[in-house]
Amino acid sequence: MSKTRTITIANRGGATYEVDARRPLLDTLTEQGLDLPYGCKYGGCITCAAKLTDGQIDQRRQVALNNRQLGDGYVLMCVARAVTDCTFEIGVESHDRLYRNPFLDPLQPHELKADIATPKDP
Ligand code: FES
Repeated sequence: MSKTRTITIANRGGATYEVDARRPLLDTLTEQGLDLPYGCKYGGCITCAAKLTDGQIDQRRQVALNNRQLGDGYVLMCVARAVTDCTFEIGVESHDRLYRNPFLDPLQPHELKADIATPKDP
């Protein structure tokens, strides 16, 4: 099976990039000139989060996203590999649901315990 995947960036005019499925998306996309934010580059800081709107990724190495953020489609591009062709929204404009606003969206009593992510195999 081909190890090349097509990545579409929905909020950059639908620009497409061919990436090596074995390498982190952050590395392969920035090498091709896409401007992506990043910090730690080991899956620990959330700076590089993008929103996956279509496709499947493998981000088993991520340690920073909780289950709510994973459920909302967030992907840490520095550790994620593309399993299939994927579509993303990138940059801060994709972070609308990344952080909870405690005034608009207060925690429910059952959510006060830590929400530790439970990674799943792709
Ligand atoms: S750069 Fe820190 S989590 Fe990706």
